[in-house]
Amino acid sequence: MKKVETSELNERASVLALFCRYLHGISTIIRDFDGLRIYLKINKLNKKECFEKLSLLLGVPSKDIQLYWDEIQKNSKFFKDTHRLGELAIGNYYYDNGFLPFHNILYIIVRSTKPKNIVETGCYVGHSSATILEAINKNDFGHLYTIDLPLYGETVEDGMTYTLPNNQRSGYIIPFYLRKNWTLLEGKAEDLLESLLKKIKKTDIFFHDSLHTYNHMLWEFKTVWPYLENHGILISDDVSWNDAFKDFSMKNKIKPHYIKNLGILYK
Ligand SMILES: C[S@@+](CC[C@H](N)C(=O)[O-])C[C@H]1O[C@@H](n2cnc3c(N)ncnc32)[C@H](O)[C@@H]1O
Repeated sequence: MKKVETSELNERASVLALFCRYLHGISTIIRDFDGLRIYLKINKLNKKECFEKLSLLLGVPSKDIQLYWDEIQKNSKFFKDTHRLGELAIGNYYYDNGFLPFHNILYIIVRSTKPKNIVETGCYVGHSSATILEAINKNDFGHLYTIDLPLYGETVEDGMTYTLPNNQRSGYIIPFYLRKNWTLLEGKAEDLLESLLKKIKKTDIFFHDSLHTYNHMLWEFKTVWPYLENHGILISDDVSWNDAFKDFSMKNKIKPHYIKNLGILYK
């Protein structure tokens, strides 16, 4: 009998879960259609090309990149723990593991660069935060500061609706043993980001995944840049949604790197 790889099972479960979620009302269908489109687009990513790109960018041999990819992809404990918390929190609701290939890329970057401080905006249930925290845990070094506006059904300015289960906070799927290296700040990035940066003084990595409007993204990039360490990395999700990332890199003469919908800038 053909052995089915964990990664293949995870992928099948994700596709099945996406399908099941279509049964949850018209508004969910519209939102998840977008999720499915993005999921399929990112999944077309040619792994070899992606590893070579990351290898050049991070100055790490391609075989190490592959190693880190496999390390997270085959980490069944991590997927089980995050999944279990998700299920506990939302009862009968069918919950997929929800991780996307770009989360693996975040993992690879953190494992390769061993940063001291990471600042992230946009957490929602906690997939990116959990992945970053798992990498920090493996590095046995580093701290993640996450800013997230917890929402319970409101649609935000970029047209997205984020719904946390009642009585759950941002990042609720993050296993408790990973939270020792985590600080969660709840509220708008507009109100919290600058004071956080002033407090920690410098960050090695910044990851944007909060409100994807042109003005907000540009504001986050401008705000963070002076606080980014030399050779620090700014990563933005969903750079194709508007020109903020492109304009910021052009105006500041910083070479932009793209891995599908992720934009990466080196300081
Ligand atoms: C795309 S989700 C984050 C997904 C997460 N990074 C992941 O990959 O698993 C965006 C999150 O940003 C939050 N958000 C929206 N506007 C925000 C703002 N102005 N400041 C901070 N967070 C915001 C939303 O409530 C939501 O939780």
